[in-house]
Amino acid sequence: MSFEKEEDAFDQRLAEMGIRIKDADNFKVSENVFDEVTLLALYKLVHKKWLTAIGGSISTGKEANVFYGDRGDTAIAIKIYRIQSANFTTMSSYITGDRRFSHVKKSRKELIFAWTKKEFSNLMRAREAGLPVPEPLVWDRNILIMSFLGDDQVPYPQLRTVEIEQPDRVYKDIIAMIETLYSKAELVHGDLSEFNILYHDHPYLIDMGQSVTRDHPRALQFLMRDIRNVNRFFKKKGCSVKSEYEIFNKVTGLNVAKP
Ligand SMILES: Nc1ncnc2c1ncn2[C@@H]1O[C@H](COP(=O)(O)OP(=O)(O)OP(=O)(O)O)[C@@H](O)[C@H]1O
Ligand SMILES: [Mg+2]
Repeated sequence: MSFEKEEDAFDQRLAEMGIRIKDADNFKVSENVFDEVTLLALYKLVHKKWLTAIGGSISTGKEANVFYGDRGDTAIAIKIYRIQSANFTTMSSYITGDRRFSHVKKSRKELIFAWTKKEFSNLMRAREAGLPVPEPLVWDRNILIMSFLGDDQVPYPQLRTVEIEQPDRVYKDIIAMIETLYSKAELVHGDLSEFNILYHDHPYLIDMGQSVTRDHPRALQFLMRDIRNVNRFFKKKGCSVKSEYEIFNKVTGLNVAKP
């Protein structure tokens, strides 16, 4: 089938399922995203009224695609983990050390489903700790639906592209978020950088599929890496950053001496 024909057939399939595509021109079917499993999950979510229309693609990442969507009048973000192209090996190592998910059998599909659920519950924990993250609404199989952070279907920009007015203040905010995440939500983000922070008036943390509980065997390594990423970014912005060991010790209450 030609690509266009394939697209038509796909659109028809969605239409049959009652899934409304909002902005057909803007909606590019990405390779490997909408397999049978995903369509079925979408269908269920539509049926249960968690979602009324799928809008344009916001992002195609390493493991997931994010789409804009509507739930009635409310804007939502639909994150779909690709079952086929997801990075299976890396994901496994994050799941095995996490006591919440270590019982998961490691077939590809089950792992992706567990990952989706893990992102949902990580966002929930972060939110309960009072942190600015998207509100997780529901998950089904490899699909996570959350509140949309943005205006008029345009997501807030990633921190890396923002002209920050008071970088020192934003730096402090982000370090405080790392601390709250660790002490209250008992989580380490695990992939914190200017890519996974959106900014509008203040920073928002996103992308928590890989976040781990404090008792994960590599939690402290991940924490140090997060701190280093944030320090590197703000140092380039001209901030006088605190030493990574000082931050690490304050967050964890440990007393690790700088080598
Ligand atoms: N809740 C949201 N509201 C608005 N935009 C979002 C939301 N979640 C994600 N996005 C957009 O999609 C982009 C990618 O999201 P995210 O970082 O969660 O996925 P990813 O990096 O592709 O994930 P992975 O690395 O696990 O594949 C974000 O940078 C942001 O632009
Ligand atoms: Mg990301």
